[in-house]
Amino acid sequence: METPNLTLENVEKIEKLFPNCVKETEDEEGNKVKKIDFDLLRAELWDKASVEWLDERYRLDWPWKKRSILKANTPITKTLRPVKEDSVDWDNTQNIYIEGDNFEVLKILQESYLWKIKMIYIDPPYNTGNDFVYNDDFSEDSEEYKERTEQDVEWYKMVKNTESNGRFHSDWLSMMYERLKVARDLLSNEWCIFISIDDNELDNLRKICDEIFWENNFVGNFTVENNPKWRKNSHFLSVSSEYCVCFAKDKNQGGFIENIAKDVSSLKIDSNGNYYSPGKRVIVWESSNDVVSYESEKHFSVYYNSDNNDIKIIKEKEINECNKSLLDSWYKRYISSDWENFLENSYTQTEFINIYNNDWLLFKENSIYEKDFNLNTRIKSIITDMEYQAIRDGKEVTFKIDVKTETAWKELKKLGIPFDMSKNHLFIKLLISLFEKDWIVLDFFSGSATTAHSLLQYNAEYNKNSQFILVQLPENLDDNLKTVQGKAKTTVKNWIKLCDSLGKPHLLTEIWKERIRRAAKKIKEETNADIDYWFRVYRVDESCMKDVYYHPSEAKQENLALFTSNIKEDRTPEDLLTQVILNFWLTLDLPIEEKKIWNNKVFYVAWNSLIACFDENIDDNVIDEIAKDEPIKLVFRDACFKNDAQRINVENKVKRVSPETIIKVI
Ligand SMILES: C[S@@+](CC[C@H](N)C(=O)[O-])C[C@H]1O[C@@H](n2cnc3c(N)ncnc32)[C@H](O)[C@@H]1O
Repeated sequence: METPNLTLENVEKIEKLFPNCVKETEDEEGNKVKKIDFDLLRAELWDKASVEWLDERYRLDWPWKKRSILKANTPITKTLRPVKEDSVDWDNTQNIYIEGDNFEVLKILQESYLWKIKMIYIDPPYNTGNDFVYNDDFSEDSEEYKERTEQDVEWYKMVKNTESNGRFHSDWLSMMYERLKVARDLLSNEWCIFISIDDNELDNLRKICDEIFWENNFVGNFTVENNPKWRKNSHFLSVSSEYCVCFAKDKNQGGFIENIAKDVSSLKIDSNGNYYSPGKRVIVWESSNDVVSYESEKHFSVYYNSDNNDIKIIKEKEINECNKSLLDSWYKRYISSDWENFLENSYTQTEFINIYNNDWLLFKENSIYEKDFNLNTRIKSIITDMEYQAIRDGKEVTFKIDVKTETAWKELKKLGIPFDMSKNHLFIKLLISLFEKDWIVLDFFSGSATTAHSLLQYNAEYNKNSQFILVQLPENLDDNLKTVQGKAKTTVKNWIKLCDSLGKPHLLTEIWKERIRRAAKKIKEETNADIDYWFRVYRVDESCMKDVYYHPSEAKQENLALFTSNIKEDRTPEDLLTQVILNFWLTLDLPIEEKKIWNNKVFYVAWNSLIACFDENIDDNVIDEIAKDEPIKLVFRDACFKNDAQRINVENKVKRVSPETIIKVI
């Protein structure tokens, strides 16, 4: 016989009274246990005499929040390595696909892309209890953490964040917080970040964004009806939508263009064949300034005869004194008033007559409106499917919004790629079309690369030149196969088959690079648009430099002989060039020309912005040739020179021809 566990019973009693004060967590053996949050319970039973609640303030806190802040601010020594064999049209494309952990990628890009990204769209794991998140081991101290982030061998191992995890929300919050904090620096002042999310973390996401981007910069939450057939997952309501949270970097500097085409059935057509709808009121009935002087340019009454489309303008002093003779001749009187006093019209008399002469006015019952020739209107905060005829470039075209997940997987199926969790590319295209100019769009949780597909489709349809940067973790599919179940298992098996058929390793990123290739080919065939369809691939790796480069004082005397070079042996000149580009805070889309000068390989990045040569023992003639091009920055490696004397000689030689050149030897 076992006596009842009284503690357990007591906890259950408290849970009934104060459910918020009891949290489910795991004990050391992994069993689920309930624990009381005594701080919260004390707050519930607050008694001024017994509780000092000194640390009370409005904010969202969670364990390891401070650690996230620290992590976001700590430098890392990783770099990117080009993967030319997976890239398409390397020399000409400006689109970038990066394989790696997005936190590291954001840190690596932080200086090169500072304030250069105009739009960030992300669709992070929603923390549904089934998501895989990167395995940040929070039990280690900061030294261990530093060691691991510099030397980790299982970097791409993801773990399932299940609700039984005692830090279920905290882990997710830390993961998002540190990434958003770095991402904010990349965003240019006039533009926005969009984050897809569902009910699981909407609330927490909004709070961390309020903190990182500031609540004044909150633009709005879009409600996206992506699942109109709804999920049968609730006893209360059928969830058919999710959200997209939008924050501006600086709300005072940005704004969306009107990107929703008007339904042609709501438009009228004038005698010049122009479509219009009723626009701004020019003779008003409220919300205008009082007329203080009857001589004001904005004070006048309008008499209009619809039979002959004639107007008469009169400056009147009494609101109730109409011009009887005009009224008797079938003129109608229009005034701006609040019924008792005259108000100012929207335009001056001269402007009004000009608009009238252009036939831009609509005379309605009580007011005069300006014709609105704008064929678009502003996006609404609820986004649902719609399809109708609209006018573009004078012609009727079909305008369609389709945000359904179902359409997305059908679309992917047509491309021969099995996946039913992708975002609809028309949804992201709609967000992209909120901005007018060409820009860089970054998606650092890019999954199936829908953002690339959307951007290419948008560029092709609207003749634009925007670029994408996508980041995705190269999850190991063989590892995934061991952990997933049910339908997901079949999907992963199909992905592995696809990788085999492409002759590629079993990595998730292989599937999504192929999606971009296939989507690009399809868009090219369908539109024949003259745009940049392709992309450069980069992969995150350890720095090209050996440890001794970063910590020379730590090198032991007996090991010095090992360091004939600062550079790791497996690194190619292209690897070195990429690291140098990033170290000089240049961007990854710049044109790179490879020249052969006197048998040496010399890289020209953006013409003479950066010239680099990493060959051993370079020829003096090469230096003369390079110097003539007056490089802004010139980079060599130690091994380029036979000895220090040659190195000094080379530097002097360059400086004589091109004194402004910044020379660096790595
Ligand atoms: C919800 S999915 C994005 C889906 C995507 N919008 C689409 O249309 O397919 C989130 C993606 O982020 C990736 N991911 C998760 N953690 C990551 C990390 N630390 N770095 C890079 N990618 C990560 C996951 O592998 C997953 O593919």
